[in-house]
Amino acid sequence: MKPLILLTGGLWYIGSHTCVTLEQSGFKTILLDNLSNSSLSSLDGIERILGYRPVFYDADIRDRGAVASILKSNDFSGVIHFAGLKSVGESVNEPFEYYNNNIQGSFVFFEEMERAGIRNIVFSSSATVYSADNTLPLIEEAELGTTNAYATSKLTLEFVLRNLVAAKKWNAIALRYFNPIWAHPSGYIGERPNGVPNNLLPYILDVAIGKRDKVWVYGDDYDTVDGTGVRDYIDVNDLAEAHLAAIHKVLTWDTQSFHAINIGTGNGTSVLEMIENVRLASKKDIPYTILSRRPGDLASVYADSSCARELLWWEAKRSVQQAVEDSWRFVCNNI
Ligand SMILES: NC(=O)c1ccc[n+]([C@@H]2O[C@H](COP(=O)([O-])OP(=O)(O)OC[C@H]3O[C@@H](n4cnc5c(N)ncnc54)[C@H](O)[C@@H]3O)[C@@H](O)[C@H]2O)c1
Repeated sequence: MKPLILLTGGLWYIGSHTCVTLEQSGFKTILLDNLSNSSLSSLDGIERILGYRPVFYDADIRDRGAVASILKSNDFSGVIHFAGLKSVGESVNEPFEYYNNNIQGSFVFFEEMERAGIRNIVFSSSATVYSADNTLPLIEEAELGTTNAYATSKLTLEFVLRNLVAAKKWNAIALRYFNPIWAHPSGYIGERPNGVPNNLLPYILDVAIGKRDKVWVYGDDYDTVDGTGVRDYIDVNDLAEAHLAAIHKVLTWDTQSFHAINIGTGNGTSVLEMIENVRLASKKDIPYTILSRRPGDLASVYADSSCARELLWWEAKRSVQQAVEDSWRFVCNNI
């Protein structure tokens, strides 16, 4: 029988791609989402790719009764826990909301998992758990340190999972994503931010389709290839495959463990390089204006991804150019 995996927050960006990858790789998935940052349109996209619609529960991870009933009425082998609010900037102004939704919500959810006897979990963590004072590339043992409620919620939940592994014999992997972007090659699912995009690629794509006038580039005097900030952009389809490898690992471990694992490419792309990639894919001019640096921004951030290779036998395969082309197709399909 195919292992059944619950994807909390599975309806939207990373969850929908992971759903498709798991379903195409011998797993069954059920999605749970409170629709706070998503819509049912994503199920249409998943259905167009798979040829069938996965089971979906409209529920909140903080709703103990709903969670208990969903966990009881399905025979889950494990959980991939995506559900959470994800804007660093918003979390600076709304820490209560982030602690309530991400930390308190996960406490409720984990307690109900324990009650239901489900102890295998892959958790969406983030490279924001690292302190700004590390050398590059970032290794998992680098200094941890957070400066906003979003990152603190991720780091706190990593510690909670360590405790659950030690005390309650859970198996847990926290995947520390670097900068997930792009879309499924079908063009049916992809990143669809509400309002002004927080991430660079969706913003540049908005300029390419004429929704915004220009890209604001914060700083061109960093010590990088062209002076603009460099980040490790990971194709969401590679990221989905990292979840496949991680859930497989937690289901097959014979000793209880916790691992935090970087999920990045190990390479950086600058802001101007990304603008050029979109220009080539879209064949549109991308006007931009250089502004001064933003406080708190780092020159470069990229991962050491050797731990993912060793523990998960996973590494990123897709190129930035290919991924930008996939994103452009998705944007054109969804104007
Ligand atoms: N996208 C990124 O850049 C990035 C980077 C690092 C980590 N992450 C983490 O990965 C996870 C998935 O990110 P994403 O980009 O797919 O985000 P997303 O917003 O597209 O998906 C998260 C989903 O969780 C749902 N959700 C939020 N709170 C919920 C709750 N209380 N109960 C049920 N559902 C709830 C939302 O409706 C949304 O569909 C998040 O935890 C995020 O913090 C994302």
